[in-house]
Amino acid sequence: MKKALTTVMFRGTKAQEEKLYAVIDELKDTPGALMPILQQAQEIYGYLPLEVQRMIALRMGISVEEVYGVSTFYSQFVLNPKGEVAIAVCLGTACYVKGSGALLDKITEILGLPVCSTSPDGKYSLEATRCIGACGLAPVLTINNEVYGRLVPADMPAILDKYK
Ligand code: FES
Repeated sequence: MKKALTTVMFRGTKAQEEKLYAVIDELKDTPGALMPILQQAQEIYGYLPLEVQRMIALRMGISVEEVYGVSTFYSQFVLNPKGEVAIAVCLGTACYVKGSGALLDKITEILGLPVCSTSPDGKYSLEATRCIGACGLAPVLTINNEVYGRLVPADMPAILDKYK
């Protein structure tokens, strides 16, 4: 699934930047360094905004396109910060065959938020996930840490209302 970058303002600190540069300087001459650097950058910042990808590219002496290509290819990398209301819809096989795609569409329609993005005010984020191990409840989604199962799109307005 294509990941989208949103316009949530980047608020990195000097301490985070120093930590990131220390990681890059330690690993950059190792073959295949980009993956572990991105993993650690995500630990430092919680996600990988374009600003951080740029810092990595500059410090490693590689192109931003290369960093962007890797961070958008692997689902472990998160390009947007989690919203205050973090919605994750399972697109694992069991959930998908039971209609989780339609749930995703309904949420996008209600919130005006594309999948893999965060609203500009930081209130909502919408992600698609792999199986979360609750297939018996398919189709499943989580909002923050709460699990909702056996859903149909018509359930979504009332559920989302609870988080307004
Ligand atoms: S496929 Fe959705 S919880 Fe397993």
